[in-house]
Amino acid sequence: MDLKEHILEHTLPKHVAIIMDGNGRWAKQKGMLRAFGHENGTKSVREVVETSAKLGIANVTLYAFSTENWNRPKIEVKTLMKLLISSLKKEIKTLQDNDIKLAAIGNLSMLPEKVHHELNEVINATADNSRMTLTLALSYGSREELTHAIKEISTKVKNNIISVENIDDSIINKHLYTQNLPDVDLLIRTSGEQRISNFLLWQIAYAELYFTNVLWPDFRKEDLYKAIIEYQKRERRFGKTSEQLS
Ligand code: FPP
Repeated sequence: MDLKEHILEHTLPKHVAIIMDGNGRWAKQKGMLRAFGHENGTKSVREVVETSAKLGIANVTLYAFSTENWNRPKIEVKTLMKLLISSLKKEIKTLQDNDIKLAAIGNLSMLPEKVHHELNEVINATADNSRMTLTLALSYGSREELTHAIKEISTKVKNNIISVENIDDSIINKHLYTQNLPDVDLLIRTSGEQRISNFLLWQIAYAELYFTNVLWPDFRKEDLYKAIIEYQKRERRFGKTSEQLS
């Protein structure tokens, strides 16, 4: 039986977040430069995005560039930025054909002007699409996001817009870059590494974590199906007991 047939429609994750790892190792295994791995990683991005939309997943968030990635060799940062621009130009049709809205989270002011421009073009062009939201985490780090939110909330407290007593989960959510997204249900990391690397720390509080040894450029729709099937086997208790749930 096709793996897809094992997926239950009514318990699909509403928000899947992915740490796309292993591009460099994939290229090295083939005796190629790291850039070759990133280029091939974009094919996995397209397949995962299209497959998710077709399955009916409402939100997919991809960790495309972290605040820490700015410390990589200049040439690699340049390659990644170029790849982003070309992918945005090339994939706008994929987004429109599949009714997908593009969004971005992170310290976007750090991005080169050209990336900013292309990103805004695609965000504006796809703003009315509603089947799925694809969010790219760019120059994103969870600690930076939380620091930014704390500064904004503190300023509002200082200016008597918010009172300290009223600060709760919902107020904090509203000050995060992910304010329009639900919490993450399923977090996938490829390449065998089992860590979170400063990604959506607040938003994954109750996410199911799924780690696979598959390197990102090899990640195909069957790998996504496997992750979702595994997710659907888990019992999500949100702090309650099994008995309370049944
Ligand atoms: C991690 O692999 C991957 C990245 C830092 C970049 C991810 C970018 C892409 C898949 C391409 C562009 C994205 C979009 C959305 C068009 P790594 O380089 O850390 O691999 P390694 O751990 O094997 O060295």
